[in-house]
Formats: sequence, structure tokens, C-alpha cells
Amino acid sequence: MKGIILAGGSGTRLHPLTLATSKQLLPIYDKPMIYYPLATLMLAGVRDILIISTPESLPDIQRLFGDGSRLGLSLSYRVQTEPRGIADAYILGASHVAGQRSALILGDNFFHGSGFRRLLRAGWEILDGCTLFSYPVTDPERYAVGDLDERGNLVSIEEKPARPVSNNAITGLYLYDADVVEIARDLQPSARGELEITDVNQVYLKEGRAKVIELGRGFTWLDAGTHQALLDAGEYVRMLESRQGVRVACVEEIALRMNLIDAESCHRLGAEMNNSEYGRYVMSIAGSFV
Ligand code: DAU
Repeated sequence: MKGIILAGGSGTRLHPLTLATSKQLLPIYDKPMIYYPLATLMLAGVRDILIISTPESLPDIQRLFGDGSRLGLSLSYRVQTEPRGIADAYILGASHVAGQRSALILGDNFFHGSGFRRLLRAGWEILDGCTLFSYPVTDPERYAVGDLDERGNLVSIEEKPARPVSNNAITGLYLYDADVVEIARDLQPSARGELEITDVNQVYLKEGRAKVIELGRGFTWLDAGTHQALLDAGEYVRMLESRQGVRVACVEEIALRMNLIDAESCHRLGAEMNNSEYGRYVMSIAGSFV
């Protein structure tokens, strides 16, 4: 099982925030944005992850995570020189995927909700082609929109439709079988000149091999691509963390709980940041495991 985080793009909707730094390194409250999609892949049971970003941003992301071994992960990196589209992740990532099943997540997608790990497991279990995750939104025209029948089967999917047939946005987390690489290679660029992930999903849909898991009420999905969404995500995390005393997307804690690292290593990671509340939280979690 392989993973890809697509963390490139020019982030123009966030200018001037992203004039001199990568969007995926902007803070969502107490940690860089990219921690959240990384946490999602970890919860999905993926350890071998390729991070794709721009030539300018990739060295910064690499400095943040290194080879991933400190978190019990194996991380590799690849430059995307131009934003050629989301499906380009599978052209750049073909050798990484190496004929295995994979999860792709966009670097600005934020998921949170109780039972998420169980849902992700279910996503892999039903995978026969692709598994998508839908979420009801008030502004579906900003996303890929899926039409589902009464049993939750995907009937159609369209990228940013002017007249959405439903309010089900298709989120930026995708599980695929090994065919995805060939499908991506056969794609033609869309009118906006990109290799669209929705075109990949349409191929699976035509073959009757696209499944959807609906993320319902009580679940939070945000794409932190605008100033408002970025602030909303930060405020959401701040509120949850201060109310419950637990941290969202604390990758060190997830690594510990998923047995990727031991308590001693986790404590060491926290101690390196012991001047921050985040670091002290990591140390206390590690302490409670000994
Ligand atoms: O967030 C979910 C939505 O993400 C989906 O519903 C849409 O189907 C999907 O197309 C995508 O829509 P966006 O409008 O958010 O796509 P955008 O072009 O902004 O790219 C999403 C992220 O992927 C963004 O953080 C930058 C990164 N990216 C994008 C492209 C096209 C890359 O790293 N490289 C690329 O070539």
C-alpha cells in the first residue's frame, strides 16, 4: 500500500500569503498544513509515502520531515515543475506506486471526525478500482460533484459543474488499485490544460468500479485553499484542542499509537520541541505509554 501527498500548485488564491512560502507549510493553528494530510495517510495505514511539490517548496518540506524514519515512515520526494494537474501525481509517482494499491491526498485537505480510521479501513476493504469520499457542502460548484443513487452508488461525477446535480463534493482523498497509473497515462489534458483527477475517476465509473464513502454529519472536511477556509480550519483545531485537551493530526502521537515508533522515540521528538505546548503534549503522550 503506497501513498502520495500532492503539495504543489502556486497557491494564487492565498496571495500574498503564498508569495514567498508554500501553501502547505502555512499554519493550521499549531502545525503546518501538510501535517493534516500526512496524518490522514498514516491513519489509512500507509507508511511509504511520496511527497510531490514545486521546486521552490520541496526543500522546505524535506527539511520538515526528512526521510520520515523518525516517525516510522518511509518518505520520498519528487518535484512537479508545473501544475500539470492532480492526475499528474500518478505519472510522477508511477515508479513509487510500483503496481500496488495507493492513496492520494491533496496537501490542502483537512479531515477530522470520530471513526475516521474505521472508515478508511472500510475504504480499502471495498476497493475494486477506486474509492472516493464525498461530503455535503453548500458550494458544490467549487469541487468535483458526485451524484449518488439511493443506495449510495456513484452515478455520475463532474468537475466544478456550473449546475451541480447534488451537494456531494468529492473530496481530495482517493484510494486506487494499481490500474490508476495506466489510466493517468492515457488521459488528455482538459480545457484548462490539466490532467484532471475527475477524468481518472470517470474511467473507473464507466467500468462500474468507482465506490463512494459518504462522510456525514458530525464529520469535518475542509479544503484550506482560501483565506476564510484557512482561518476556519485553524479555529476549528484550536477549539477542539483547547476543549478536549487532545491534539488533532499530531503525527508523533499517531506514529506512537500505530506502533510505528516506541514511547522513548516519541518522547525524544517531543523533547526537541519542549519550548512549545505541542512538544510538551508529545512528551506527555509518550510518558503515558511507558
Ligand atoms: O479539494 C477537493 C477538490 O480538489 C476536488 O473536489 C476537485 O475534484 C479537485 O480537482 C481539486 O479541486 P481544486 O480546485 O482544489 O484543485 P486545485 O487545482 O486547487 O488543486 C488542489 C491542490 O493540489 C492544491 O493544493 C495544489 C495541488 N496541485 C494542484 C495541481 C493542479 C498540485 O500540487 N499540482 C497540480 O498540478
